Amino acid sequence: MSDWVLPDEVLAEAPSHTPLPHELADLELLLCGAYAPLSGFMSEAESRRVARSGTLPDGTAWPVPVTLDVPTDIAGRLDGPDPRRRVLRITDPEGAPVAAVECHSLDALGPDMVRVGGPVRRIADAAHGVFIGLRATPEQARTTYTKPRVLALVADRPLHRPQLAQLARAAHNLAAHVLVMIPTGDELGGDKALRLPTAALVRSILAAKDRLTTATVLTVPLSKRGDRIRDGLLTAKVAAAYGATHLMTGPDGLGGGDGVRAMVPRDLAYDTRDGQWRPIEDIEPPFRRSALTNAEIADMLDRGFGLPEWHTPPSVAAELRKARPPRRHRGLVLFFTGLSGSGKSTISRGVYESLLEDGSRTVSLFDGDVVRRLLSSGLGFSKADRSMNIRRIGFVSAEVARHGGIGMAAPIAPYESDRAEARRMAEAAGADFVLVHVSTPLEVCEARDRKGLYARARAGQIAEFTGISDPYEAPSDAEMTIDTTDMSVAEAVEQVIEHLSDGGWLEPTGMKLT
Ligand code: ADX
Repeated sequence: MSDWVLPDEVLAEAPSHTPLPHELADLELLLCGAYAPLSGFMSEAESRRVARSGTLPDGTAWPVPVTLDVPTDIAGRLDGPDPRRRVLRITDPEGAPVAAVECHSLDALGPDMVRVGGPVRRIADAAHGVFIGLRATPEQARTTYTKPRVLALVADRPLHRPQLAQLARAAHNLAAHVLVMIPTGDELGGDKALRLPTAALVRSILAAKDRLTTATVLTVPLSKRGDRIRDGLLTAKVAAAYGATHLMTGPDGLGGGDGVRAMVPRDLAYDTRDGQWRPIEDIEPPFRRSALTNAEIADMLDRGFGLPEWHTPPSVAAELRKARPPRRHRGLVLFFTGLSGSGKSTISRGVYESLLEDGSRTVSLFDGDVVRRLLSSGLGFSKADRSMNIRRIGFVSAEVARHGGIGMAAPIAPYESDRAEARRMAEAAGADFVLVHVSTPLEVCEARDRKGLYARARAGQIAEFTGISDPYEAPSDAEMTIDTTDMSVAEAVEQVIEHLSDGGWLEPTGMKLT
């Protein structure tokens, strides 16, 4: 970290900026030394070099760009003649200052954003973050190691008996101290088959702590960039900074490098003769039980089946049951999208009433036209306003679902990115998301023209009308598609209810009123 002097009056006058969550996570890793030898954000040239060749200007290997982008109007205030005043104050999402960046480079990324590079310095401890109490700097962590060899595991998914046994075996063979680092830089952990809100991931790992009594367990605000090789290399960098000598990798062996030796886990199975986990090839097939896959575990949780004790410690199973309750109790965002007049309001109202009659779930309905009278009043139909509208609807629906309810939404929602954001918000709330595309074609919607809006749009009296003078991006990720051209409302409603029953969100018998 750099020693530059930062007079109070400079800091007081410095412009403030709240970075995105992943930038704040990078900032914390820079500040605590986990990204050593990096001590600040990269310039555009440095980040391009890293992306291209995987090295820093001095030739040191570095796998991923670490950058900070700020709006042009803020960056404009960093361009003054006095270099000592080129300081950006970084605040957390609540507005509390946490750090300062001494801006050495300002690179325009287009008209709106500027990439700010330069060393960072802490001005206050980060106050927020999931399980922040379990964070430790590399220096603090090193004081807890009891052996010269340190075997690190970056635990981005829950630890069941097979993973705990793999870790224990590897640590025993190496005579190593165990360091469990739980990544908290993303809002969701786990893998595709079993996503968990980060707090739930940490809780489920801590639930195995009676098996990790001699280990160091901490949280690290590491986030994934989405490239498995580079993410693996970054993990190795951070593990090395924390003093790891060995790193447990995934089954693909990704994750070594940087003086840290990759330990590819042995494939273990449960031996029914003595209840031990041992290498699969050491157990005769009739006595062998393979570890459950995450997809199998997710399915059991969804149906409300308990996880078997031979596979998962009961304390871990209890945390997972809480984080991912059976679908009939889990929050759900049921999101309808489609053109005006496609039938989404009518169908969603029918589904809503059906759910009220059933009574086993609480439900809130956010219809497009109704939302625009209250929650989104004042918004128009520009791209920006429509996005804001969908984000508001997505936000409130996710909050309903966070508490186990069904949040229903039925706006046009013409843009894929806004629908994706609504899905993300629901998943981050630990809820499911079901997208229903009411795909009734434009000709049919226009021929119906129940509100007379299409005629007015054609006549040029309404601008930016979806389908006529404004785009509709048909979804490619819809869980259901309903075309009401030749279908009655009752049939469409029944199809949705059936989908919810088949998926387990409703008791299968609950809807049978006749
Ligand atoms: S969205 O694009 O932001 O999702 P939303 O569902 O809230 O739209 O509102 C759509 C409703 O507003 C339509 O059903 C229609 O009644 C009315 N409306 C008024 N102007 C427009 C327009 N330019 N484009 C689409 N719908 C419009």
